[in-house]
Amino acid sequence: EEVGRDVGAGGVGGGVRARRLMANRGGGGARGRRRRRRRARRRATARMRSDDAKNDARARRAAAFARARCGVELHAHVNGCVREDTLLELAAARGLERECERALASDRDLLACFEIFKLVHACVDDAAALRRVTREVCEDFARDGARYLELRTTPKEQIGKERYVEAVLSGLEDACGRCGGDGADGELAARIILSVDRARDDDASKAMETIDLAIKYKERGVVGVDLSGSPVVGHWDRYVAAFEKARAHGLGTSLHNGEVANTEAEQRAFIAFRPDRLGHCVYTVRDESLLRDLLASKIPVELCLTSNVKTRSCAGFAEHHFAKLRSAGHPICLCTDDTWVFQTSLSREYAIAAETFGLTDDEIRDMSTRAMDFAFCDEDVKLNVLANIRNSTS
Ligand code: IMP
Ligand code: ZN
Repeated sequence: EEVGRDVGAGGVGGGVRARRLMANRGGGGARGRRRRRRRARRRATARMRSDDAKNDARARRAAAFARARCGVELHAHVNGCVREDTLLELAAARGLERECERALASDRDLLACFEIFKLVHACVDDAAALRRVTREVCEDFARDGARYLELRTTPKEQIGKERYVEAVLSGLEDACGRCGGDGADGELAARIILSVDRARDDDASKAMETIDLAIKYKERGVVGVDLSGSPVVGHWDRYVAAFEKARAHGLGTSLHNGEVANTEAEQRAFIAFRPDRLGHCVYTVRDESLLRDLLASKIPVELCLTSNVKTRSCAGFAEHHFAKLRSAGHPICLCTDDTWVFQTSLSREYAIAAETFGLTDDEIRDMSTRAMDFAFCDEDVKLNVLANIRNSTS
């Protein structure tokens, strides 16, 4: 392939460099070309076999993790985790099936993802669909081995913010029982975080409306608030008062942080706010002074490996800042972000971490247990969940 490109660059059949390359790699003429093609085919087959072997090993590890039922998920967006069959069904009923299939096939950087979310929102556009999607997301995480789940979602005007919250809480209760369960029965306990969207909630009063709903529905399973949405719009100044109010009312706070470059001032302000958790921190870790601030703050970071790699914020799993934060002893937890958008699952994220960073099963379980320290639920729920994880079998 490389030879082909070189020949092209040097003109058809021309160029000393191209000829030399061809001589080195099997000579010119038809025989040489055939030989090169055979060699390329053999290399491709070997590559595919090694990818298959890697994927098989990852799948086995993920399945073992799911069976062990010790998952703790703290950063997952409801609509980003929609079940694919459901999305296609809702899309078909709304004449959006083609767009959905196209979205699935698309390559996605971070900003392209926000276009995909618009499509999901066009499909999950009423209270019944939202209730169903929330229930299914809980069921899917439970099936994948989660014992505790914090799902976040943005109340939207399209449905009516309060109706939206009611629908999500109904879905939560359909799956996990009253207020999302307490884990005493060994089943999944789940809670809701309400998100302020930097694009949708484009003034302070809209953000405050969401925070007020979070306060109002605290007794029914809302445990925290989050700032998310496209990181290239909106200003923290607009939201500080709302997040301070949330904290004053005992809600957990989490902020999507450092997803894009050139946002140092905002990242510094986020860390200075001392939220209970930060999401991603991709660019925070790349700037020495921000990294120092982050490590000193000890604010737990929600890490989403596949999300950061698929959106091209990180070059690959091996380059992910998981390694840096873990070796610094910083509090971290592994999360999925959006299982449908990024075609992943919690068990898969743990399998990737295990295979990339050489973690043992015990280390994986410890990370999961540790994540419960950062959860926003009540202490008695934490104790139940921790006991469930301890008692899990494989
Ligand atoms: P929803 O809030 O349940 O509708 O979930 C989808 C929404 O989550 C998107 O519209 C974004 O606002 C937010 N979201 C999902 N993934 C990301 C991310 O990686 N960065 C920032 N916001 C995100
Ligand atoms: Zn997120």
